[in-house]
Amino acid sequence: MMFEDRYAAPIFVGESPAFRQVLSFIAKLARCDAPVLIEGETGTGKELAARAIHYSGARGSAPFVPINCGAIPDNLVESELFGHVRGAFTDAREARSGVVAQAEGGTLFLDEIEALGAHAQVALLRFLQDLEYRPVGGSVSRRANVRVLAASNTDLAALTRQGGYRQDLLFRLKVLVLDMPPLRVRGDDALLLAEAFVARYCSRYGLPAIPINPHSLAHLRGYDWPGNVRELENMVHRELLLNEGETLSLNIPSVPPLCGTTAAPVTEPVQVTDFRQAKAEAIARFERSYLSHLLATTAGNISLAARLCGQDRSRLNKLVRKYGLARSSFTEDATAQWAKNALEST
Ligand SMILES: Nc1ncnc2c1ncn2[C@@H]1O[C@H](COP(=O)(O)OP(=O)(O)OP(=O)(O)O)[C@@H](O)[C@H]1O
Ligand SMILES: [Mg+2]
Repeated sequence: MMFEDRYAAPIFVGESPAFRQVLSFIAKLARCDAPVLIEGETGTGKELAARAIHYSGARGSAPFVPINCGAIPDNLVESELFGHVRGAFTDAREARSGVVAQAEGGTLFLDEIEALGAHAQVALLRFLQDLEYRPVGGSVSRRANVRVLAASNTDLAALTRQGGYRQDLLFRLKVLVLDMPPLRVRGDDALLLAEAFVARYCSRYGLPAIPINPHSLAHLRGYDWPGNVRELENMVHRELLLNEGETLSLNIPSVPPLCGTTAAPVTEPVQVTDFRQAKAEAIARFERSYLSHLLATTAGNISLAARLCGQDRSRLNKLVRKYGLARSSFTEDATAQWAKNALEST
């Protein structure tokens, strides 16, 4: 655990090779001042990573200002970012500073950057070119002294290829890219995290320490955590509050089989309260199950799979890596032969 927050509490838990790589890359990123694009599935710790880059870098004692791009209407983005002068529009009785000015000297964290509308993308692109901006209704330009970090939970390059994002903005943002690995490829980190969350919430609620029961520990390893660390944290939090036993049981959903028709349907009820998280989890479940069927059908042959499903090869490869699906586990079988024949005959 290398990073500590302002109150010296350890914030990052994890010892897997994939996570150690993240930590050492974060240490490097903290030493420079260039923009960083942090990509990763929902709940993988993108905001935590952004805070670690900020607080352990040279700007650490200046403000860290997060802004959720998905929550700003496209036409209000300039006023949110750059502020406005008095009388700039009907409701502007007072001048108001934007988040860029609030982050002066520190870091501006643009969360959910993939959600920016077309107009907002242009405004941000202009700002990133030389960090100059003008409050809405103002006539004087200012130059900001901020570091820009951005996070996305979709593959921004893929979104750009599909025409949903400006390529020039993508290039500005992805000078440095930090990929947060999904929890399912972090080995036993799920166990360490579960124990850390139990300790954190027991101390928060003044509860006595309690061990996680062995049955739940075993399940922690097998589950694929579509909501990643946040899903695990919420689960521990909830179960601790409801628990009445001597040990803590975690209600971990049983893992759907990787292949075959019994894979979990997308409509399966999910135990979450947050819509965005529930949606991301459902998409992750669908993609994983779809890909497993597809690769089983083509015996792990990606080119063939790409032709069958109408996606390009590099996107499929990326998904295969994202879900940790080993191609070698899909062996040649009659179905694959059938698929090949079907394609050859078209
Ligand atoms: N390695 C870690 N160690 C301890 N806590 C973690 C770790 N990674 C994430 N968390 C915790 O998990 C929760 C989710 O993390 P965070 O908000 O940074 O994820 P995110 O990738 O920004 O999610 P989203 O895409 O949904 O916005 C937070 O409460 C965070 O403190
Ligand atoms: Mg986040």
